[in-house]
Amino acid sequence: MSILTVFKILSYSLSILLFFAEGEVLFESEESKTAQQGAVFNKVSLVSKSNQDIWTMKQSHGGLEAKDWDHVKIIIDKTKRPYRVSYHQLDKDGRETEYRASCFRCHSGGPRYIRPKENSISKISLIQKLKIQQWNLLIKSYGDVEIKANDPFKRQIALKSHREGSHLKVKACTHCHYQGGPRAELTKEHALTIKFLVDQGEMPPWPYQISEKEKKEIKKFVYGF
Ligand code: HEC
Ligand code: HEC
Repeated sequence: MSILTVFKILSYSLSILLFFAEGEVLFESEESKTAQQGAVFNKVSLVSKSNQDIWTMKQSHGGLEAKDWDHVKIIIDKTKRPYRVSYHQLDKDGRETEYRASCFRCHSGGPRYIRPKENSISKISLIQKLKIQQWNLLIKSYGDVEIKANDPFKRQIALKSHREGSHLKVKACTHCHYQGGPRAELTKEHALTIKFLVDQGEMPPWPYQISEKEKKEIKKFVYGF
């Protein structure tokens, strides 16, 4: 049985347990920050159907009391393998609108693993923590995904910033990050996300290791020298 199937079964088992739990989870993000390094709050929910998973996030850069929360969606089309993913930014009335940022820069492989900020974890209920676990297993079960364009109008801000450049070829990473692999391949476009997750010790995931030489190679890849 492949590891992706294991993640899927675990996520499904947890979802049965959490059947009655409230659908939305609110947390402060570990990774996302405002331009002034302030807190960014996310409310995430999931609607899972047989043919697609719809991930919705409302995001505030202006604290919990803010009136206007950004509204984004990621849709996973599960009708065939590899799954296909599309990215959506919505306006107040739920209509497609301009991306606020090039999603692909951070979302190389569909929905991102949810990582609440360390000191905000105590504010999250046990049920919500389990829900995040369940979602993260589901996110890992997708494997490499193919991008499905979503351009209902001519965009000013493209999904990809077209700085794609070369691929990350460090062994400690390409073990999982490759086309058709457990997770999408990485390019120069993902430099900042790569830097964040490696600095945090999140990548490579335990028990995988990274040598000092490979750390240098990553630094060179991220900064170009
Ligand atoms: C600067 C990096 C960054 C950019 C750019 C970005 N996101 Fe995200 N997004 C994240 C992170 C990180 C998470 C995971 C939640 C967390 O831990 O904060 C996330 C979570 C989400 C989620 C909730 C489901 C999930 O992936 O966990 C949706 C939906 C989403 N983003 C949509 C979008 C869309 C659509 C765009 C482009 C308009 C976009 N994002 C651009 C970093 C980013
Ligand atoms: C054992 C498999 C594995 C290895 C090895 C690995 N990754 Fe990952 N990586 C994942 C999985 C699964 C995710 C999604 C879940 C998560 O974020 O933890 C991920 C997520 C990421 C992301 C966020 C974009 C995305 O696809 O969600 C980046 C960037 C990343 N990894 C970089 C790296 C780098 C750099 C290395 C090498 C130092 C590395 N990874 C090694 C499996 C791996």
